Amino acid sequence: MEMRVRPTPERPGPALLFGAALLTAGPAAIHFAVAPVHFEEYVPFGLFFVTVGALQLAAAAAMLFRPSRRLFLVAAAGTAGLIGLYLVSRTVGVPVGPHPWRPEMVGFPDIACTAMELVALPLFAVAAFRRPRPRRRHPVRVALAAAPATLLAVALTYVGTGTASAGMPAAYSVAPAVSGQPSTSVDLLTAPPGDEPVRTFTLTARVARVDGRDAWTYDGSVPGPELRVVQGDRLRVTLVNHLPASTTIHWHGVPGLPNAEDGVAGITQQAVAPGHSMTYEFIASAPGTYWYHSHQDTGNQVSRGLYGVLVVEPRTGPTEDRDYTVVLHNGVAGGVAANGTSELHLAGRPGERVRLRLVNAVSPGMDGTPQAPVLLGAPYRVVALDGRDLIQPEELGPQRIPIGMGQRADLVFTMPVSVCVRLVDTESQIHSSGVQSAIGSLAGAANLPSVTVGEGTRPASPRLDALPAFDPLQYGAPAADPVSAAHVDASYPIVISEQPGFHNGSIQLVHEINGAASPNIPPITVREGQVVRLHIVNDTAEYHPMHLHGHTMSVLSRNGEPVTGSPVRLDSVLVGPNETWDVVFLADNPGLWMFHCHVLLHASFGLTMPIDYAGITTPYTMGTRSGNMPE
Ligand code: C2O
Ligand code: CU
Ligand code: CU
Repeated sequence: MEMRVRPTPERPGPALLFGAALLTAGPAAIHFAVAPVHFEEYVPFGLFFVTVGALQLAAAAAMLFRPSRRLFLVAAAGTAGLIGLYLVSRTVGVPVGPHPWRPEMVGFPDIACTAMELVALPLFAVAAFRRPRPRRRHPVRVALAAAPATLLAVALTYVGTGTASAGMPAAYSVAPAVSGQPSTSVDLLTAPPGDEPVRTFTLTARVARVDGRDAWTYDGSVPGPELRVVQGDRLRVTLVNHLPASTTIHWHGVPGLPNAEDGVAGITQQAVAPGHSMTYEFIASAPGTYWYHSHQDTGNQVSRGLYGVLVVEPRTGPTEDRDYTVVLHNGVAGGVAANGTSELHLAGRPGERVRLRLVNAVSPGMDGTPQAPVLLGAPYRVVALDGRDLIQPEELGPQRIPIGMGQRADLVFTMPVSVCVRLVDTESQIHSSGVQSAIGSLAGAANLPSVTVGEGTRPASPRLDALPAFDPLQYGAPAADPVSAAHVDASYPIVISEQPGFHNGSIQLVHEINGAASPNIPPITVREGQVVRLHIVNDTAEYHPMHLHGHTMSVLSRNGEPVTGSPVRLDSVLVGPNETWDVVFLADNPGLWMFHCHVLLHASFGLTMPIDYAGITTPYTMGTRSGNMPE
């Protein structure tokens, strides 16, 4: 018998084999992790990913236990093919599936996977063509040699599978209709017919050059046009979409807004596609300062410029000689602007009564810091917050007035004789004394807008950082507020926390409510007529202006201390770092409503949840299939 000892010459070093196997198993795991979403999207895609995953897993096992030149040649060819297919799918798109020739988005899972495949490819080539090397190596040296590939594979597999399994779903519904169960679709929750005077507006969403940059605008300006109507008017607003993306309009803060007009993509409507239009209709029943903005891909679209103000004047006519809106917002060319400029000058003559409607549309940094303007030059009253009047507001001297993103504050004063009135922005001052604001103070310190009313010399400015902050809970006179006095029918904790993690297919500072991030936060279900209490606990060092669509929240207390002044009725409650707020609302507007942080970054990182009325359903879905992404 022939005794030929083969010195296992075909085997490349064990470290190489191990590395190659791990860098093949990693992509296999990621392909398995993305398969469910692809099955939802298109079954053949799902099958493709499962098959590729299985083949890669088998190849990884074979690399360890039965390596051969043929195996590595096949692996190299297959991997090169996958990389090629990936590049095609992300550039021109693949010819099959629900969206032929439409490039897919680049995401964390596919980057992690492709990175491993790119590193594996040369390893396969070396393994296939390396000269026989019959020497034995010490196990420690083997481990050291395999370490880089191992670390790379483990890290990328962790990121890839983590982000893939927390991917944005293809389609999900906050309240799907269940066959056999009686229900009302949001589509039916429209304004009742009536003979109110009709005010018609058209807002064209389009890209326009503003301050030398491309902005996303309504009618070519940032902010968009101010819509001014009289209490009791019926608004008919047509949104024409000339943007390269789908969009909507949400009517932020309008009391009694019919749910079908709420403008939330994937809940109350399908986002309006480019080239299409849609008309919103509702009755402006309550006077006040409101605003409107896109609620599709909101964080992105609002920061690009899609917002404007809606003022509803009282039926009894204006109460001041001059009535101005001052929108604080991100300047298109950077910094904070007021009504589109860094130097806003408003007319006013001595003795005239002036109302300034302040709107905070500034997208803050991660800390969510509010704007905190100070009015100098005249005593003033804060007559309304979020468009809801305060009772017997007293005159105030210079104070910082915190206004969270999305909130509004109306100030009224009489023009002084010889000085002008100035609104000074103190965001940077708050930042420098604030909790944790390195990022925010840099962002906020650039070009604070100057807002001046009237002529005359500039009023003297006190040290802004030493000024007290306006406290809405101890201002004005107590008065009956039926909602905050009512028996509470249902009470819910809203505990806000944050931690780094996987969310919506990427790595984020995930923001959670009661330990879950959207879309995994279970909805609160209410019934019409209920008085619902929310116990909001902020376990973070950030500000969270918590906004409830379609309703008014009455503040009960902050950190357990009750409201001692006027009732405070808001659509957005500014919950400061580590504060606890108790609010109640009357469930008087059936529909499916969002409750979310108006720091849009936080909302997109998970801080948004539905508050649903029992029996209301939606035909719309959110997710990659419909393209509806309300955050
Ligand atoms: Cu102003 Cu849901 O937003
Ligand atoms: Cu809103
Ligand atoms: Cu927040």
